[in-house]
Amino acid sequence: MHKLSVIGIGAGDPDQVTMQAVKALRQVDVFFVIGKGAEKQELVDVRTAILAEHVERPYRIVEIADPPRDRAPADYQGVVEDWHERRAALLAAAFAAAEGVGGILVWGDPSLYDSTLRMIERVLARGTVRFDYEVIPGVTSVQALAARHRLVLHRIGEPVHITTGRRLREEGLADSAVVMLDGECTFTEVPGNDVHIWWGAYLGMPDETLIAGPLREVEQQIVERRTRLRAEKGWIMDVYLLRRG
Ligand SMILES: C[S@@+](CC[C@H](N)C(=O)[O-])C[C@H]1O[C@@H](n2cnc3c(N)ncnc32)[C@H](O)[C@@H]1O
Repeated sequence: MHKLSVIGIGAGDPDQVTMQAVKALRQVDVFFVIGKGAEKQELVDVRTAILAEHVERPYRIVEIADPPRDRAPADYQGVVEDWHERRAALLAAAFAAAEGVGGILVWGDPSLYDSTLRMIERVLARGTVRFDYEVIPGVTSVQALAARHRLVLHRIGEPVHITTGRRLREEGLADSAVVMLDGECTFTEVPGNDVHIWWGAYLGMPDETLIAGPLREVEQQIVERRTRLRAEKGWIMDVYLLRRG
């Protein structure tokens, strides 16, 4: 493999795949699917549909399983470091064995809560395989949320803060925050009667669900809807903006 394209495919809506992504997809000889053994079928189907719609030339798909990992180790840092190194070794071997142009499809955009680019840097740092790589940007779930709620993420001239549910719990809400990776409805723990929420689940997908309003008025509705959807489908992905005042 002499070149690798890391291609952002958007957060679920196949119409949000960019022309640049389509052109890059059409150059790829081998798509690598990394460590997604436990991924929900619907997310796999989005990727498969994108390839079926846009790519006519033959390509190969190479799956690279994640190496086993101790989930409750005494030396957490050491074990994770070792796991990343073993993962990099597997990737390096797969890249070395591939011919032509490689491709990796990334959900949303690779710049946001995704480990693909760090993994590639690690593979190259090992020095056993050499290739050029490019990044094709995709529509993030944050942009999809803003568009569906017709929102500007910040007030005039203010910064945008994007964080996780865990950090929101640890740090609280200063003024506003976009919150991702929150499996525990942490917004219910944010104090105050002056907070507004704009919430979206399965953005761009057939089960897309949107709820917005004063946090204290709609939080219970979101918790119930989220619990029901998650139980019905077996999985959920959601993201929200919180803002004070
Ligand atoms: C591992 S991060 C990946 C983010 C991705 N790289 C992006 O650009 O959006 C996964 C989190 O993104 C958010 N997310 C991704 N796709 C989503 C969607 N279609 N609807 C709602 N939230 C989504 C959720 O907060 C989820 O927990």
